[in-house]
Amino acid sequence: MEAALYHPEHGYYGPGPRRIGRSGDFYTAVSVGPLYGQLLSTLARQVHEKMGQLADFSVIEQAAHDGQLAEDILSTCDFHYLIVEPNPRYQTVQRLKLARFGSRVSWVSSLAELPAVPALYLCNELPDAMPVHLVRSDGECWQELYVRAGENDTLQFVPGQPSSEALLAEISRLPTNLPPGYTTEVHLASLEWMRQLAKAPFHGSLYLADYGLDQEELHMPERHTGTLRRYHQHQTDDHVLEDLGRCDLTTHVNFTRLIETAEATGLRLSSYTHQGRYLGKLGLPWLTSLEGQRPDATTQALLRQYHSLTHPAFLGRSFRVLVLEK
Ligand SMILES: C[S@@+](CC[C@H](N)C(=O)[O-])C[C@H]1O[C@@H](n2cnc3c(N)ncnc32)[C@H](O)[C@@H]1O
Repeated sequence: MEAALYHPEHGYYGPGPRRIGRSGDFYTAVSVGPLYGQLLSTLARQVHEKMGQLADFSVIEQAAHDGQLAEDILSTCDFHYLIVEPNPRYQTVQRLKLARFGSRVSWVSSLAELPAVPALYLCNELPDAMPVHLVRSDGECWQELYVRAGENDTLQFVPGQPSSEALLAEISRLPTNLPPGYTTEVHLASLEWMRQLAKAPFHGSLYLADYGLDQEELHMPERHTGTLRRYHQHQTDDHVLEDLGRCDLTTHVNFTRLIETAEATGLRLSSYTHQGRYLGKLGLPWLTSLEGQRPDATTQALLRQYHSLTHPAFLGRSFRVLVLEK
């Protein structure tokens, strides 16, 4: 999965940022329009004020992709912006897009390189794009599913012993009463990322938005094939070994384990809720300010974006927002 997504030449994300939105393979809150960035600017102002309006306060973004969210936030607030971007090709695209903001933007290639500043850290749809280990129960034990080339070079899953102690430790937390054949994912990479976030030198608030479930929802008997899916041109299926590198591969985030890991590493849970509820509240002062006015075309477009971001039938319910304090 890591190679299929991040191989520099052949991975889905490796060569450079792909289009997201109508002409891409999937939508994200960022691709809905600039309102999302405007709401996150409001959040940045709130965190800045709560932290005592410190002069070196910064907004940090990881998974900045083509720099769209950064542009939307930089256009609506005055803070310094730090992007965590390991892929130099993405940095090039981001530098071009954000050139007009000059020295207000800077880049580091890993969380460990961040400065010790007061900050709001943001990421939109990052952990769902991290590689996972697939495991399958035979009714008594869990086996890991490895990828092997079969006849005619077609790829197939082959069960074997779990590949590491870390995986075995996560497997020991899985429910034991699941039926034979039950398949699910273990998110070692996202748990390690959470530990790195806890160790990174900045302090302040962390805002993480993604689609995902609590452990109980994730391991319901009816979800017996797990959540690993591929996306191509807004179509989704579970043929995850086909068209590698041409399709996005993704899983639902296990929010329970992310929160447990965050708390075990010293981060504090501030809030965890549906995106609709979180952004609805954040956008309330803006909505109230529109009362009694006839909205112009720009405001009407922003109101449609608000609807897409918050309505349960669009991004409001399947996406969740986790806010941590550090
Ligand atoms: C589903 S896309 C989301 C892009 C964007 N945040 C949005 O919401 O439109 C996932 C992104 O995560 C990025 N990514 C994955 N691992 C990363 C890492 N360790 N550091 C920074 N970005 C990463 C990928 O390059 C890709 O741009």
